[in-house]
Amino acid sequence: MDAPVLLLLLALLLSSPLPSSTLDSLSQGSSLSVGKPEQVLISQSGIFSAGFYPVGDNAYCLAIWFTKPSYDGKHTVVWMANRNQPVNGNFSKLSLLKNGELILTDAGRFIVWTTKAVGVSPVRLHLFNTGNLVLRTSDGVIQWQSFDSPTDTLLPHQPLTRNTRLVSSRTKTNFFSGFYKLYFDNSNVLSLVFDGPNVSSVYWPPSWLVSWQAGRSAYNSSRIALLDYFGYFSSSDGFKLQSSDFGERVRRRLTLDIDGNLRLYSFEEERNKWVVTGEAITEQCKVHGICGPNSVCTYVPGSGSGRRCSCIPGYEVKNRTDRTYGCIQKFNLSCNSQKVGFLLLPHVEFYGYDYDCYPNYTLQMCKKLCLEKCGCIGFQYKYDHICYPKRMLLNGYRSPSFEGHIYLKLPKASLLSYDKPVEEFMLDCSENRTEQLVRTYSKAHENGVLKSILWFVCAIGGVEMICICVVCCFLMMKAQQNTNTDPPGYILAATGFRKFTYTELKKATRGFSEEIGRGGGGIVYKGVLSDHRVAAIKQLNGANQGEAEFLAEASTIGRLNHMNLIEMWGYCFEGKHRLLVYEYMEHGSLAQNLTSNTLDWQKRFNIAVGTAKGLAYLHEECLEWVLHCDVKPQNILLDSNYQPKVADFGLSKLQNRGGINNSRLSRIRGTRGYMAPEWVLNLPITSKVDVYSYGIVVLEMITGLRSVANAIHGTDGIGERQSLVAWVKGKMNSATAVASWIEEILDPSMESKYDMGEMEILVSVALQCVELDKDERPTMSQVVELLLRRGC
Ligand SMILES: *[C@@H]1O[C@H](CO)[C@@H](O)[C@H](O)[C@H]1NC(C)=O
Ligand SMILES: *[C@@H]1O[C@H](CO)[C@@H](O)[C@H](O)[C@H]1NC(C)=O
Ligand SMILES: *[C@@H]1O[C@H](CO)[C@@H](O)[C@H](O)[C@H]1NC(C)=O
Ligand SMILES: *[C@@H]1O[C@H](CO)[C@@H](O)[C@H](O)[C@H]1NC(C)=O
Ligand SMILES: *[C@@H]1O[C@H](CO)[C@@H](O)[C@H](O)[C@H]1NC(C)=O
Ligand SMILES: *[C@@H]1O[C@H](CO)[C@@H](O)[C@H](O)[C@H]1NC(C)=O
Ligand SMILES: *[C@@H]1O[C@H](CO)[C@@H](O)[C@H](O)[C@H]1NC(C)=O
Repeated sequence: MDAPVLLLLLALLLSSPLPSSTLDSLSQGSSLSVGKPEQVLISQSGIFSAGFYPVGDNAYCLAIWFTKPSYDGKHTVVWMANRNQPVNGNFSKLSLLKNGELILTDAGRFIVWTTKAVGVSPVRLHLFNTGNLVLRTSDGVIQWQSFDSPTDTLLPHQPLTRNTRLVSSRTKTNFFSGFYKLYFDNSNVLSLVFDGPNVSSVYWPPSWLVSWQAGRSAYNSSRIALLDYFGYFSSSDGFKLQSSDFGERVRRRLTLDIDGNLRLYSFEEERNKWVVTGEAITEQCKVHGICGPNSVCTYVPGSGSGRRCSCIPGYEVKNRTDRTYGCIQKFNLSCNSQKVGFLLLPHVEFYGYDYDCYPNYTLQMCKKLCLEKCGCIGFQYKYDHICYPKRMLLNGYRSPSFEGHIYLKLPKASLLSYDKPVEEFMLDCSENRTEQLVRTYSKAHENGVLKSILWFVCAIGGVEMICICVVCCFLMMKAQQNTNTDPPGYILAATGFRKFTYTELKKATRGFSEEIGRGGGGIVYKGVLSDHRVAAIKQLNGANQGEAEFLAEASTIGRLNHMNLIEMWGYCFEGKHRLLVYEYMEHGSLAQNLTSNTLDWQKRFNIAVGTAKGLAYLHEECLEWVLHCDVKPQNILLDSNYQPKVADFGLSKLQNRGGINNSRLSRIRGTRGYMAPEWVLNLPITSKVDVYSYGIVVLEMITGLRSVANAIHGTDGIGERQSLVAWVKGKMNSATAVASWIEEILDPSMESKYDMGEMEILVSVALQCVELDKDERPTMSQVVELLLRRGC
């Protein structure tokens, strides 16, 4: 393929006129014309360009962009003068008038945009290396600058002030003002608002937190926020965001994206692409307006945007070309309470637009209330006693960790068609979803190489052709080598998930000196990253797949985001080294804590609930493929507040990959004592194997005993042949009163300090979880529900 590419290059070189000007400034009386693409200002460093940018058919905007396109040939625009009023492709121009005014005229006639800055002294328009377009007098006085009127992006050293705001674009290709805004509110707090056509609401910081709870201060009225070249963004209200690749870089930006999230990006030179290195909101579904009315946002890790919108039962998509219109009713709701009924949508929240909040309401009272109000289209029921009848269903999202439910008001007749409401409503876990995990990057590559060469050729201007050829050949060879080793153009997890070098990790762990754990998967070391974060670094054994697969799996895992799942910060893939970088957990594993008797009853109960939530998240969000399969106290870690986080999920995917059988889990995995009978009986492996292991872990937490018979530290004589489960059941059956047998099985180190109600529920849930028949075990989200029914 070398020859044709070269020929093509030569042809292009000979035929196309090379740009003649690389101006970085414009003098009074001159202009840039829309029809002449070569009339572009380029900053002295070459990093930024300013001129007319095409935004549609025959539509242009005056803009500033990064000169170097990314691998897909697209330019990244950082500023626009006339985003809501593009100019015609013929005869439009930007002129710096003799009076010092900068004007943009459409098709030579009317003025679309102007700086209005009329000074007495002569001025020039400069494009600075910072990306700032500046109208400056000869003695250095700035009369106007683009930094004062940002669009959706802040560049390093471009302040966001009391007078400026960021406004997202409408869509990826439509640069018109969108509905999301970043600004300082009246109480000096940096906020994000969804300002839709019909409604608006602040979603960040979360409205139910007062500012100091969200880590903000309302007392500093300077109202300024700034990003630096190291990737550190800080605001006068105390908000801070540090990029995961902290360090000096010239190409960084902070953008309010079309999905309402504020993200830090860095340009990765080797791969020619922008990568996310930080973001303000980790739970994307909590952004308001993301799915439109009557629609629910759910997380779909692995898909392009990581989320998806679906209409609630009885509603249909309003506008197929624009999902932000949400869904509309397919039925007419009667005011006659005999003709309507309710449908339960578990773990769904619709925020706001209530008639009122009614505490101390039973479910029955809440239903009655909603029936009486004709305009009530459903209600939120939280904590088993708070009722919120709804006028509108907006900002909907579903997450197993949300402890409330929605009851939809629907015509009685149509209720029957949703007799399996949950399934109907659940995400479609069909093959298509897994299909999306297959990366579609290979095509982009050749293109990328060619484009970057073309870019290079263009940039180099009039240099001798021979010279270019040599450089091109070199570049092409290099690019081809890269095709083999480069990670694919895969969008990395948004939470700052990144690739580390082996040297970096070696340094962080001081030569892998401090071992903090050891398991089947590999050895874990403690380390301190260059940005001072303390990390747990796991060296994997036996990973033998290629980097593309490794990265795909790792980044899918890295994208999972739940307070009860350990967070993965990145990975290293070099030679035979495969490492994973996780957050470090102060209090070590549940196993260590059980051995050292540091857990009182409240902590144990919280750990049981939190662990169940983490597993429920893995199981429920269409992630059956991330079955844990090795739930045990060693894999449940505790943070500084003894909140549990499940670790090591999805690991099986990262090991034994090049393996024997690509069908489902074909090899026995797990740890003796925690493994469900299905493994031994060779029955289908489902998420219920994790439920079984969870049940065993809970029994261990209650009794303080180890399930593996020969490791007992108790005294009550669990023989070699009697399992923990059988022992507990035996105690239960032989007892006369509940309290007495619970006392007998309880960990003696707790000295009978426990909540009887919680204890009863926990024991009964644990015993259900270890049923031999998998169909008799509850699902993890049912476990969460059972445990919380009491907790609130
Ligand atoms: C405007 O430009 C387009 C192509 O760029 C051309 O086809 C069209 O004739 C032009 N219109 C006028 C009025 O010159
Ligand atoms: C307010 O914030 C600015 C910018 O972050 C900072 O320089 C200043 O010291 C702060 N003022 C007070 C009183 O904290
Ligand atoms: C659907 O959305 C598109 C894009 O915003 C808009 O042009 C169109 O008019 C909408 N159609 C309806 C029926 O609302
Ligand atoms: C806003 O409300 C009007 C009137 O209720 C409705 O026709 C329109 O579709 C709504 N727009 C959106 C984006 O929901
Ligand atoms: C709802 O009512 C309108 C008029 O009131 C009628 O045209 C429409 O067909 C009804 N829709 C359904 C689903 O019954
Ligand atoms: C709720 O009910 C309980 C007992 O029925 C009562 O003690 C409490 O004061 C009530 N709370 C409110 C806010 O009405
Ligand atoms: C799954 O893929 C098939 C064929 O590619 C398609 O017909 C079907 O509509 C897809 N299902 C979903 C939910 O996208």
